[in-house]
Amino acid sequence: MKAYFSRGYEISASHRLHTDVLSESENRATFGKCNNPFGHGHNYRIEVTVGGPVDAATGMVIDMVELDTVVGREVLQRFDHTNLNNDSIFANQVSTTENLCIAIYQILMPALQPAKLERVRIEETENNFFEYPGRIGHSKASGPATARL
Ligand code: NI
Repeated sequence: MKAYFSRGYEISASHRLHTDVLSESENRATFGKCNNPFGHGHNYRIEVTVGGPVDAATGMVIDMVELDTVVGREVLQRFDHTNLNNDSIFANQVSTTENLCIAIYQILMPALQPAKLERVRIEETENNFFEYPGRIGHSKASGPATARL
């Protein structure tokens, strides 16, 4: 029996939406005030969803303490109270929350195994939500470890 567990976390971080691919005026036209050279901050609310069989002994999909440990070490320590643009992940891509969502998924997915990371969702503001569920068909297309499913 498969079930899902989601847990929320929060980080505060700054960023500036800007790409060297575009000119200064194109950057301003594309990103508006988010291209402000001084940057701006968000309190990002990150929701991590893990899925899997409910363990017969514990009744849980994943040990919440273990999840907190991994997310704390891999995500919160890395991004909380930082300038996202200074992280190596954003050296060659814009620090949008779409890209942050994908980056966090890619960091957590291997770190949480054998638990299955189903989704990373981020609320950037009251009105803006982003989510990444991994590549479609990823688990079926990859190697023998998941071919048994
Ligand atoms: Ni922003």
